[in-house]
Amino acid sequence: MCGIVAYIGPREAYPVILKGLKRLEYRGYDSSGVALLNGDLNVYKKKGKVAELEEMLVGKDVHSNIGIGHTRWATHGEPNDRNAHPHISASGKLAMIHNGIIENYSQLKQDLLRKGYTFKSDTDTEVLLNFIEDIKENNECPLEEAVRIALKRIVGAYVIVLIDQEHPDTLITARKGSPLVIGIGKNEHFLASDASPIIEYTKEVVYVNDYELAIIKADELILKNLGNERQTPFITKLDMELAAIEKGGYDHFMLKEIFEQPQTIHDCLRGRLDAESGSITMSGVTKYAEQIKNANRIVMVACGTSWHAGLVAEYIFEELCRINVEVEYASEFRYRNPVINKGDVIIAISQSGETADTLVAIENAKSKGAIILGVVNVVGSSIARISDAGAYTHAGPEIGVASTKAFTAQLAVLTMIALKIGYEKGTLSQERYLQLVRELDAIPEKVSTVLLQAENIKKLAEKYKDASNCLYLGRGYNFPVALEGALKLKEISYIHAEGYPAAEMKHGPIALVDEALPVIFIATKDSYHEKVLSNMQEIKARKGKVIAIINEGDEQSIALADDVIVVPEADEILSPMLSCIPLQLLAYHIGLAKGFDVDKPRNLAKSVTVE
Ligand code: M6R
Repeated sequence: MCGIVAYIGPREAYPVILKGLKRLEYRGYDSSGVALLNGDLNVYKKKGKVAELEEMLVGKDVHSNIGIGHTRWATHGEPNDRNAHPHISASGKLAMIHNGIIENYSQLKQDLLRKGYTFKSDTDTEVLLNFIEDIKENNECPLEEAVRIALKRIVGAYVIVLIDQEHPDTLITARKGSPLVIGIGKNEHFLASDASPIIEYTKEVVYVNDYELAIIKADELILKNLGNERQTPFITKLDMELAAIEKGGYDHFMLKEIFEQPQTIHDCLRGRLDAESGSITMSGVTKYAEQIKNANRIVMVACGTSWHAGLVAEYIFEELCRINVEVEYASEFRYRNPVINKGDVIIAISQSGETADTLVAIENAKSKGAIILGVVNVVGSSIARISDAGAYTHAGPEIGVASTKAFTAQLAVLTMIALKIGYEKGTLSQERYLQLVRELDAIPEKVSTVLLQAENIKKLAEKYKDASNCLYLGRGYNFPVALEGALKLKEISYIHAEGYPAAEMKHGPIALVDEALPVIFIATKDSYHEKVLSNMQEIKARKGKVIAIINEGDEQSIALADDVIVVPEADEILSPMLSCIPLQLLAYHIGLAKGFDVDKPRNLAKSVTVE
């Protein structure tokens, strides 16, 4: 949610920032801007995607060795040139970019208005910037000091980066609740919301912690806390290759990421699951295995697609571990004063590891004595760092805004945890455990087989692309897959879609069914199959169009459905990792057929760092 990039050093700042903004565009893309210092403070900003800013700047003087850049996902104020970042202070000397929300900005704005300040934008960012400048002028203190004082009075989340015309050799930055990575080069520094703009210049990075402030020159990085005490920057090495954040010959990141799934699931299992010996090694989980086994309940906390992974995991954990599981929307859980007992196990599921609602929900739970396990994709992210333990999903950078490969990797990790705990607890027999371990090991190859259906799915997308509504139905382990399929379609094609447990349909949604309504059934052969067939009959009787995800040779489904997509058979516990893939491809191809930007769907952002 908003991407920030900054540079200081011997290179030209603008090309570094521009490239970085393009890499971060998945975080928000309603407007973008840069501020460059070269004697003058030049600020350029533009509504729309980064390419439009780039076009505007052709032929302009962008020479500078220090600069800040921003790509925005609007919170306060509509997306337009005026509200785009960077913002300039009243004196015209400071420029600032911000990712996050200043919750008490309205009060601060009133105070500043009374003092005679005027505002050019509707943003909370401009208020914070002028608040900082006001403190600087009143106290005649350095900018760093003014930032420190201001931030102590701020309620909300932020990463801010400032440049000062009077100090063209320094960047000032601070963080609370939103992500910030500093790349350390030779006499140069790079700042960004994630490592992708930094990776091609240096692999040495510092993840800035909450309530830390950095004063950065080309050859110096001073890190302090808001109490003005020096902190030692903890330098880590990035474990990421440039190829992972490029399209690699695919038309879109989303398609690339769908097709990467055999490999990403394999990477996720590698080094953990040994099908030959039947062992599952997960050091983070082992550390808390006793507490998990003895937990009265496990609470899965997540948002969006990650929440759907949590729902699948609820079925799996209850079946294999016989532990009561609750699955919570992080945004509800964080505010509703939930009962949390010491020893409750919370599993936070997040691709980005930065989702604000999930982060705060687990902070609250942790303060009440819960054990926090993180199932996170982005290494070093906030959720990963606040968790007591956990397991990375190792899906690699996911850039398409619609989550695909992260979902299947989350399912793989959660399944391994459940298998390990169930087996050690004795609620899962050795025979069934070994069977599932072997089947899980075979999933990457089966995913490759599903992907062979891509051309067939493309044709179906053409056939159904003009639908105005779609229903997704599944039962058991595949009910959450129905929810996920509907979410994918909504996000990418803007077609209204709902996911339901297939049996629930008759309690209301069946009223929607007519000859124009495509109904997508997940009808793989599992313990619910006969029931799902009955639900299909009910739709056919009302002339709905049935598209069924089935296993090979399922003549009953073939006889009923208008169209089928065949996926390999798998144990029902593992089948969501296969059945979700045609739904990802269907959403992708429908979105594409309708002419939409599938990697950057309207109104969305990849990493939701505001509540
Ligand atoms: O990074 P997270 O997994 O915490 O993100 C949660 C949701 O914002 C995310 O899954 C969102 O729903 C995606 N756009 C789904 O495709």
